[in-house]
Amino acid sequence: MMKTPLLFAISLALAIASVPAHAKGDPAKGKTLAYTCTGCHGIVEYKNAYPSYRVPKIGGQNEQYIVAALTEYSKGERSHPTMSAQASSFSAQDIADIAAYLSSLKPAAK
Ligand code: HEC
Repeated sequence: MMKTPLLFAISLALAIASVPAHAKGDPAKGKTLAYTCTGCHGIVEYKNAYPSYRVPKIGGQNEQYIVAALTEYSKGERSHPTMSAQASSFSAQDIADIAAYLSSLKPAAK
């Protein structure tokens, strides 16, 4: 009876070990992943038709902020129909890559 919990503990430890503690974003990959985002976020003062929202600027946004926002959308902790749909298809690594890319951009000039 001692075997099962031990095996479980080992496989859990292995699973944890295979996930990098801090996923490092790759801006080059992020650029490819973020291509569809510019359709909304790349347009200054662009508004969503429905529900009507001002689309926030994300170029030049803080990296941690982008990671947090996308993670919340993907988990449903923050909800917006489009953004939840976008974010739910991303892995943690995708989100890190996108954040690395977007945060490297210069904020749009006013
Ligand atoms: C169809 C339009 C549309 C597309 C495409 C889109 N977004 Fe958004 N995004 C929005 C809107 C509208 C909001 C504001 C929603 C809200 O207030 O929760 C938003 C919010 C965000 C936020 C939070 C910004 C903030 O200041 O809180 C981030 C980060 C973000 N989007 C990243 C992305 C990324 C990355 C992609 C591409 C994978 C993407 N978006 C694609 C419309 C879009």
